Amino acid sequence: MRVLITPEQLAQRVCELGQHISSDYVDQDLHLVCVLRGGFVFLADLIRQISVPCSIDFLATSSYGSSTESNGVVRILKDLDTPIAGRTVLLVDDIVDTGFTLDYLCRILCERSPDSLRVCVLLNKEERREVEVEISYVGFSIPNEFVVGYGIDYNEVYRNLPYIGIYKNIT
Ligand code: IMP
Ligand code: MG
Repeated sequence: MRVLITPEQLAQRVCELGQHISSDYVDQDLHLVCVLRGGFVFLADLIRQISVPCSIDFLATSSYGSSTESNGVVRILKDLDTPIAGRTVLLVDDIVDTGFTLDYLCRILCERSPDSLRVCVLLNKEERREVEVEISYVGFSIPNEFVVGYGIDYNEVYRNLPYIGIYKNIT
């Protein structure tokens, strides 16, 4: 496995993101919504770098299964446990690739009338975008490679790697 982002680089960037988010949301109660399963390690590290009061909730979307390509169809496998109406919501996900997942999630979450809704992703594969999504916080922009580790899987394996590695070249 080729290492793309080291544990030290991840820690440093997550710390910066946490500081940035904390200063943007000063004096607000932030509600973090994590997209399972890939976002869980990122959320766990990020939340400890956020200094404003925050609550968390989780939702799960359908994964690629054993494929490394999105089919553009997004399904909610697990919905939020608590309503978000009137809340200050930050959606936290591992990767924005084609953009289908976050575009869909932003649309359905907006219908629930949050006070505000922004998006934070660890990794951005800009080259692959098919739908435009407004992302307020990005950890790293990465090339068009299939990556694993730090919560991100291939067929449910490799989530435990402490770094982001390149699984295989899909270009
Ligand atoms: P999108 O809908 O194409 O933007 O895909 C978003 C989701 O696909 C991400 O949240 C990941 O769960 C998954 N994904 C996209 N690229 C990769 C990758 O390189 N490795 C593992 N999962 C990925
Ligand atoms: Mg995901």
